[in-house]
Amino acid sequence: MADSNKLIIFDTTLRDGEQSPGASMTKEEKIRIARQLERLKVDVIEAGFAASSQGDFEAIKAIAGMIKDSTVCSLSRANDKDIARAAEALAPASRKRIHTFIATSPLHMEKKLRMSPDQVLEQARQAVRFARQFTDDVEFSPEDGSRSEMDFLCRVLEAVIDEGATTINFADTVGYAVPELYGTMLRTLRERIPNSDKAIWSVHCHNDLGMAVANSLAGVMIGGARQVECTINGLGERAGNTALEEIVMAVRTRKDHFNLQLGIDATQIVPTSKLVSQITGFAVQPNKAVVGANAFAHASGIHQDGILKARDTYEIMRAEDVGWSANKIVLGKLSGRNAFKQRIEELGISLDSEAEMNAAFTRFKELADRKSEIFDEDIMALVSDEQNSHEQEHYAFVSLSQHSETGAKPSAKIAFTIAGKETTCEGQGNGPVDAIVNAIESTTKSGAELLLFSVNAITTGTESQGEVTMRLSKAGRIVNGVGADLDIVVASAKAYLSALNKLHSKTEKLNPQV
Ligand code: KIV
Ligand code: ZN
Repeated sequence: MADSNKLIIFDTTLRDGEQSPGASMTKEEKIRIARQLERLKVDVIEAGFAASSQGDFEAIKAIAGMIKDSTVCSLSRANDKDIARAAEALAPASRKRIHTFIATSPLHMEKKLRMSPDQVLEQARQAVRFARQFTDDVEFSPEDGSRSEMDFLCRVLEAVIDEGATTINFADTVGYAVPELYGTMLRTLRERIPNSDKAIWSVHCHNDLGMAVANSLAGVMIGGARQVECTINGLGERAGNTALEEIVMAVRTRKDHFNLQLGIDATQIVPTSKLVSQITGFAVQPNKAVVGANAFAHASGIHQDGILKARDTYEIMRAEDVGWSANKIVLGKLSGRNAFKQRIEELGISLDSEAEMNAAFTRFKELADRKSEIFDEDIMALVSDEQNSHEQEHYAFVSLSQHSETGAKPSAKIAFTIAGKETTCEGQGNGPVDAIVNAIESTTKSGAELLLFSVNAITTGTESQGEVTMRLSKAGRIVNGVGADLDIVVASAKAYLSALNKLHSKTEKLNPQV
């Protein structure tokens, strides 16, 4: 049994976070995030749902083969096929966990599963028994647990612990719980289930009522949970999941109250947040706790005066402790390949081959010719761009020109490749970005609906690169494309083409819960 004061951080950004519409990630993107999660020292990385697609299976397998310090986990529904697939993907892992689940609330059993409670109990039991053939680290979740009946939950959870489940994850699937009730329900389960001490208890909360973090902490303090499932930036379906950074910093900052040990390296929180936001295209709101751009900004004169006299007058955490650093000018036009390579390594980015390093360095030189100061964020964006161009190259940006003038309709001309063959097209629009999208559509005719267009400055100053996210929807699929450039029209074109590439790749992922 684990140390009773250790709080296990189970990160599900790559699984539950990815279920957020548009947040679907490629294998390479998942690998980059998994490496960063290992640097953050999370205890468990839920790398995906192996049975959802061939792509997810391969991503989990690759992550399992390269992550050494964290346990790698795959989700699976409670059936042999899913579990065997999870086990196969996890085979290379030094430490592996199979996470299986089935819904236990009357509503889900009757309307979704169309199964009787006894059938659900039997399936849960069999799933855990089968999973134990592959690993002795098996987690079981009663989906919609917080809306399930206590007596039935006790029967199911006792049975799965008997079969060898080592973690029981009490899921608040629809974010319905309130802290006191959720914590008390968990405590009651632990008190009533005779073999409850054979498992570690975990919380998994969704944020529909904005209480995911509060509910998780109540589950820990009232219910005795010693694992929290969470995601970076609170990414996740609907209103998202419990935010990892908030849990970690609450437990650290209020150690006097929680008195729990964490294995996390908090200085990696902000770099991880930025990476996830950049890869998924989900911007972090400025006032977001811990990782928002304003989280440590003091605008009011009174506060600034207080901070100057004594930091702790208005600061309960130090920005540098969570990895905020003043934007550092790391490289410039005169920096050589070695300096670039060293910075890439310091940022924890691993490029697979010399050829990739050379390509990234060429991009860096091009950027440095146009921008005098290159920040870490610039390097991260150019590496993403480079990796995107490798993975999904059906459409690839070449060049563009555009004209806009007060009183005239903007026009744009773009060259891009389609399956390696260059094409040029023109368009007009209500603004330069509209013109470029119309130009691309005149050829690609994707017919996709644009759900979101957002532009963010990557760093400070008007010399900053703009990072554009375009979210497209077509035939029920939603994808995000991200592009960065000093010219925001070019960034928009890249983002649009990147989203089209994702639509083109046709990788369908199954949602485990639907
Ligand atoms: O929210 C949920 O119930 C889940 C389960 C699969 C654990 O994500
Ligand atoms: Zn969930």
